[in-house]
Amino acid sequence: MSFQIPRGTQDILPEQAAKWQYIERIARELCRRYNYQEIRTPIFEHTELFLRGVGDTTDIVQKEMYTFEDRGGRSLTLRPEGTAAVVRSFVENKMYGYPNQPVKLYYMGPMFRYERPQAGRFRQFVQFGVEALGSNDPAIDAEVIALAMDIYRSLGLKKLKLVINSLGDVESRKAHRQALIDHFQPRIHEFCDDCQARLHKNPMRILDCKKDRDHELMRTAPSILDYLNEQSRTYFEKVQMYLQKLGIAFEVDPRLVRGLDYYNHTAFEIMSEAEGFGAITTLCGGGRYNGLVQEIGGPETPGIGFALSIERLLAALEAEGISLPISEGIDCYVVALGEQAKEEAVALVAALRQEGIAAEKDYQDRKVKAQLKAADRLHAAYVAILGEDELQKGVINVKHMATGEQQEVSLDIFVSHMKNVLQ
Ligand code: HAM
Repeated sequence: MSFQIPRGTQDILPEQAAKWQYIERIARELCRRYNYQEIRTPIFEHTELFLRGVGDTTDIVQKEMYTFEDRGGRSLTLRPEGTAAVVRSFVENKMYGYPNQPVKLYYMGPMFRYERPQAGRFRQFVQFGVEALGSNDPAIDAEVIALAMDIYRSLGLKKLKLVINSLGDVESRKAHRQALIDHFQPRIHEFCDDCQARLHKNPMRILDCKKDRDHELMRTAPSILDYLNEQSRTYFEKVQMYLQKLGIAFEVDPRLVRGLDYYNHTAFEIMSEAEGFGAITTLCGGGRYNGLVQEIGGPETPGIGFALSIERLLAALEAEGISLPISEGIDCYVVALGEQAKEEAVALVAALRQEGIAAEKDYQDRKVKAQLKAADRLHAAYVAILGEDELQKGVINVKHMATGEQQEVSLDIFVSHMKNVLQ
């Protein structure tokens, strides 16, 4: 019997893992600079959290959740996204009482959605996301967007498009909602079953429908921007002003609605414009969710955040032909010939490692030539050769692979010598 990986999932093999680690390092470093701190929440939550948080008319909740009953009869769900869980933790741990406000958090980890797998769409994928809770300042909207852009740019991506929209406040949304119902109602029978069900529950969702995307009523649908009240319009203008101040180019797209229910005011997505990137071009999505904390049982608290998947980020890097500066080699390979030298090599490699040097030796009982080949395959910066003769003299032969330079070094000072040359 042979086993295969489940559909829509992938193994990250060692060559790939180095890239993941590099990206994770960049993301963490930028969070440090922007003063976002890490939060880790469980992989599964009570199903009810997502029904409430993400919204029960969304595709995620209706079709894509991995929901199961545990042995105690509770309904649990593998998290399809991070925001609802972070807000749950924010409320449960009373972070609204923290002296430092807004509370700025980031997270990184697997999310699960039962979607049709295709390029850039997985059933398990890793999101990096941030949430800033407790501020109603449009400058924080701009900061969150800037952080997302900074991550992509730090990795060398250039072909990016930032699209923003405002979904307005409750009052604006109400007016827009009625306009949408009036617009779609007369011909709603021409739309899919989902859209028909959405008409009165959440008509904005219709604009996000993948099936009815090309219906002519979609093009002529009333734009949210025409329904923004004074306050919402001013807020949106300020966000744009701050983006300009930060030198971040953007487009306003009034049809950007996002696939989750909790958004209001600012919504944004970052797309890849690299040629041959494929059909799904959205790299990152986010927005403001001022009602969510209350919905989850906390005090009225504004919030904004985004999430991006590492999988799509890697695809964008590939589409732009960017290779990450990953140092793949080890520092020193100790080649040993002869029984005694082999024993000594064990201690030498251990001593090197104690000093922070990446060291390796042979464990396959290989001849010298094969050991040298192994060192080469590992891209060792230095090869140190220890034979019977050297051992007798108390020295070791150190070769710098890039220059071919060789040097006999006393065994007593071998480790400190290596430390010096590697600096
Ligand atoms: P989302 O738009 O559902 O938003 O997902 C954010 C990002 O996750 C997408 O732009 C995409 O990069 C990635 N993503 C989503 N589904 C998949 C998939 N099946 N395979 C690979 N990548 C995927 C959210 O999740 C919100 N929680 C974002 C947010 C945070 N809004 C406010 N705070």
